[in-house]
Amino acid sequence: MLSLQCKIMTNTKANTTISFCTFLTGMDDDTPNEAFADLNTRPLGGWGVAQIAAGTGLAVYAMWVGILQPGFRKVPLRLQVPYIPASKAQVNNVMTLLRGRKGGLVDLGSGDGRIVLEAHQHGFSPAVGYELNPWLVQLARFHAWRAGHHEKVSYRREDLWKVDLTKCKNITVFLAPSVLSLLQEKLQAELPEDALVVAGRFPFPDWTPCRIEGCGVDRAWAYSMEAQRQHTLKKTDESVATSSGPEK
Ligand SMILES: C[S@@+](CC[C@H](N)C(=O)[O-])C[C@H]1O[C@@H](n2cnc3c(N)ncnc32)[C@H](O)[C@@H]1O
Repeated sequence: MLSLQCKIMTNTKANTTISFCTFLTGMDDDTPNEAFADLNTRPLGGWGVAQIAAGTGLAVYAMWVGILQPGFRKVPLRLQVPYIPASKAQVNNVMTLLRGRKGGLVDLGSGDGRIVLEAHQHGFSPAVGYELNPWLVQLARFHAWRAGHHEKVSYRREDLWKVDLTKCKNITVFLAPSVLSLLQEKLQAELPEDALVVAGRFPFPDWTPCRIEGCGVDRAWAYSMEAQRQHTLKKTDESVATSSGPEK
């Protein structure tokens, strides 16, 4: 019969304790050393590989459902963006592009809150993060508390697509390319003329950045809303002119 047995094994030579669980069939009387040696020498075989694959799959699924998925139940699949935290270099590049700016800052999809916290430390107030995943909202609050800034930053569990952006002057986004074209429309429709949008890792597909910082995966793009609206207007005028053909 298959039984799950956990053994604590003490390696006296290295003075370390290794704890491990093994699925054993009739090996109950083995000493830990024998069991360990047996595990090392016995080939895994198809059944062993299948067990490892099933276990890994189950662990990944449990993590997805329990930790990453909770906030996304009401969000269409094509708009779901997984959590990937910005690197230190990415955060620095975003802050460089925001240099000289004042007022509030909003991070759309704030993850563990690192950009909001950094923005607050660079003088942005209020600094707000919108995040759907409740675990990440709690984690962000914990980070802010640990840094002693929990009263100065705020993390809200809200869907970024439903947030009113009409008063936001500084916006940061680090989202997937699949949602950026849709987000362009929301930002263009709602943001004030003097707003600056900074995108990390992926640029907006149809916009023209006013500045770029960093390289490779750490690159960040800044877009002035005023300049962007002028570009869009110019593009529309050009396409109208070409579609109506040359004047006679
Ligand atoms: C790539 S991570 C970026 C996290 C953070 N901004 C950073 O740079 O470290 C994208 C985040 O957006 C969140 N997110 C995705 N869709 C969202 C939505 N509709 N509303 C709020 N947050 C969302 C995800 O949960 C994830 O934490």
